[in-house]
Amino acid sequence: MGILAVCSVRADESPEARARATEAKMTDDERFSLIVSVMGAVPSIGVPRDRRIPENVSNMSAGYTPGVPRLGVPALQASDASMGVTNPGYRPDDKGATAFPSSILVGATFDPGMARQVGAAIGREARARGFNVQLAGGINLARDVRNGRNFEYYSEDPWHTAVFGAAAVNGIQSEGVISTLKHFVLNCNETNRHWLDAIIDPNAHRESDLLAFQIAIERSQPGSIMSGYNKVNGTYVSGNALLLNDVLRGAWGYKGYVMSDWGAVPEWQFALAGLDQESGLQMDVRQWGGEAFTDRLKAAYADGSFPKARLSQMVQRILHAIYAVGADQWGPAPAIDLSAHNEIALEGARQGIVLLKNDGVLPLATGKPLRIAVIGGDAQEGVISGTGSGAVLPVGGFAGVVKIGGPGTMGAARNLYLFAPSPLAELKKALPDAQFEFDPGYTTAEAALLAKRSDVVIAFGTRIEGEGFDLADLSLPQGQDAVIDAVASVNPNTIVVLQTGNPVSMPWRDKVKAIVEAWFPGQAGSQAIAEVLAGKVNPSGRLPITFPVNLAQTPRPELSGLGTPWGTPVTIRYDEGAEVGYRWYAQHDATPMYAFGHGLSYTSFDYGKLKVRGGDTITATFTVTNTGKIVGADVPQLYLTNAAGESRMRLLGFERVQLAPGASKTVTLKADPRLLARFEGTNGLGKWRIAKGTHRVALGRSAVEPVLTAEATLKGRLFGS
Ligand code: BGC
Repeated sequence: MGILAVCSVRADESPEARARATEAKMTDDERFSLIVSVMGAVPSIGVPRDRRIPENVSNMSAGYTPGVPRLGVPALQASDASMGVTNPGYRPDDKGATAFPSSILVGATFDPGMARQVGAAIGREARARGFNVQLAGGINLARDVRNGRNFEYYSEDPWHTAVFGAAAVNGIQSEGVISTLKHFVLNCNETNRHWLDAIIDPNAHRESDLLAFQIAIERSQPGSIMSGYNKVNGTYVSGNALLLNDVLRGAWGYKGYVMSDWGAVPEWQFALAGLDQESGLQMDVRQWGGEAFTDRLKAAYADGSFPKARLSQMVQRILHAIYAVGADQWGPAPAIDLSAHNEIALEGARQGIVLLKNDGVLPLATGKPLRIAVIGGDAQEGVISGTGSGAVLPVGGFAGVVKIGGPGTMGAARNLYLFAPSPLAELKKALPDAQFEFDPGYTTAEAALLAKRSDVVIAFGTRIEGEGFDLADLSLPQGQDAVIDAVASVNPNTIVVLQTGNPVSMPWRDKVKAIVEAWFPGQAGSQAIAEVLAGKVNPSGRLPITFPVNLAQTPRPELSGLGTPWGTPVTIRYDEGAEVGYRWYAQHDATPMYAFGHGLSYTSFDYGKLKVRGGDTITATFTVTNTGKIVGADVPQLYLTNAAGESRMRLLGFERVQLAPGASKTVTLKADPRLLARFEGTNGLGKWRIAKGTHRVALGRSAVEPVLTAEATLKGRLFGS
C-alpha cells in the first residue's frame, strides 16, 4: 500500500490541522523517534552506521529521522548545505553534485533571483537523492572579517541577507524539500564555537542579526530553523527560552521546528526551552558525553518533568514543516539536468565576481598576441572551495585535494579542494591569441623572472577558509603576498585575482593595476573569471561585505579567545551592536579600503530624477542610465543617512539593473519600515519606533559613494513586535 493511501488526514486541510490530527494518532515511541536525528555512517571520521538507520536506507547524509509509515509520515533525510548537496563520505556510490558558488558570491550578485535559482537547483538535486531536508540557508551576518564561515553567508547587512536567505529557501522549498535558516543566532565567529558566549545589546540584536532572521522567515516560511552552537548573553541558543519561545514563537509567530546544530545539545532541558529536535546525536555523544533527547528525555517524561503537551508540540511543529512544504507529497524524483545546473553556477559566478580596482588594464585585449604570465593559486589545476560541512564534491571529483588539517573537530575537514577546469585552461580559451606561461609562485624569485619577461601578469591569490576556524589575520597564506609584491615590482601590468571568503589586507594594492575578487566561485568559476578578464562578461558584482584597511579599523581589532585550545570558554562582545559593517565605518568616520556595495564595471551608469515620499515609510523612485558603450548591470543602492536628526546608516533597498548602452530604467524602492526604526524593548521584546521628522537618504554606488540625496518626512509611530 502506498504512503498516501494510508494517510487518513485530508491533504487540503491546513498544515496545523493535519499536524494536530496526525500527532494525536501517534504512540509515544513514534513521537520520541521524530524528535531526534542521527548522522549517517562516515567511516573516515570514525562514525559507524547507527542502528536506527534501517538496512535498506542507502542515501545517508547529515541526518536521518525515521518516519511513521502507518500515518504517511516520511522519514526525514537531511543533507548539507547552501552551495550544493554535499557528500562527505556518506554515500560511496554518489557521483557528486553541482558545486554552486559560495553564498557570499551569490550575495555579491545583488540579485535575489540568482539565490532562488541556485536554491531550486539544489532542491532538485536533493530530491533526486531522496533528501527532503536541506540544511541550507546560512544567514549569519558577516560581523567579523575573520569569521571562517562568512563564505557560507550572504552579507553584513540584515536586509540584504534576509532577502537572499529567503530567496534561497523559497527555491529549495519550491521542490518540496524542507529548508533551514541557520545558525540561529549570532553564530558569527568559529573560535571555540561550542563554548562561545556572544554578548550583544538585546535591542541592537533585534535591529541586526535577529532582524535578518525575522524578515527571512516572513518572506520564506522555512520548515526549520537550526539553532547554533553558541550562547547569546550567557545562555546557549539551543536552550534559550527567550530567543526560541519568546522571540521566535511569541513575537514572530514562527510555525516550523527548531533543530539543533550537530553537537549543540548538552542537556535534555533544552526541550523545555523551545528546541524541537536534537540533530546529529553522535556529535552530542562526542561533545557532551551523551544523547539528550532519547533516554534522558524519556526519563524526564516518565517522572513528569517533561510534559506530554510539550512533546506533542515538538512533534506537531515537525509535522507542520513536512505538510507545509509538501515533503509528504512527493511524486517521482525529478530528472536532473546537470548542464542546466552548471549554467546556473556559471551565471552566478559571472554576476558575483567583483572588480575592485581597474587602472585601465582590463578587459585584456583579445586580438593581441600578449605574453601573459599566470602565477600562483594552483591556477593550472582549478579554483578553490571553502571547507567544512558545506563543501561540495563536484560531479567527476575534485581536480585535487591536499590535506591541511588543524585542531578541533573540523580539522579533518580542512583541505585544499580544487574544482576543474583550471583558470589557466579557461584563459587560453578566452584569449586564443595570447601566449601563456605558468609559474606556481613557489618562490618569489622564479615568479619575478617570468613576470619580468611578460606583457601582463595575472597573479592568483587564494586562502582556504572554512568551518571551525577563524582567520588569525588578513594576509594571504604561504607567502603569496610576497610573491604578488615581487611580480608587481617587476611588471606594472599586474592583475590580481583573489579567491577568498573574506577581505584580505593587500599590501601590494597600490602596485597592481587591477584587482578582482572571485570569492570561492564554484565549479564554473574558472570560466567566469576568464570571461571577466577577457571582457566577454562585463563585471557587475558588488561587495556584500566591507573590506577594511586593516583589523585596527574593525570593531574588534583583537578577537578574544582566538588560538585558545579546543574547549576553552570564549566571550566575544559584539559591542558594535546593530552598527555592523558599513554602518560601523560611517559611525566612526572611517574610510575602508573597499566599501560595502563597491564594484566596478566596463561601462558607466548615471542616476537621475530621485523622488522620495515619506509618511509611514520611505519610497524612492529614480532612473538609472547606462552612459557607456557596452551592455552592463548596475546595482543602485538606497541608504538612510539621517533619521530625524540622528546620523544613522541603513541600506533601505537595492536593485540589480541590466541595461543596454544608452538605455534607462525607472526603479522604485520601498523601505521595510523596520529599517527606519529603532527597537525599543526589554530583553529583546518590545516594539519598533520610527522617530517623527525629516529623514535623509542617499542613492549611491556604494556605502561611501552617494550620487543623489533627498529628504522625506516620516510620521512618528510605534509598531510591530
Ligand atoms: C554545521 C552545520 C551543518 C551540520 C550538519 C555542523 O557542523 O555547523 O551548518 O548543517 O554540521 O552537517
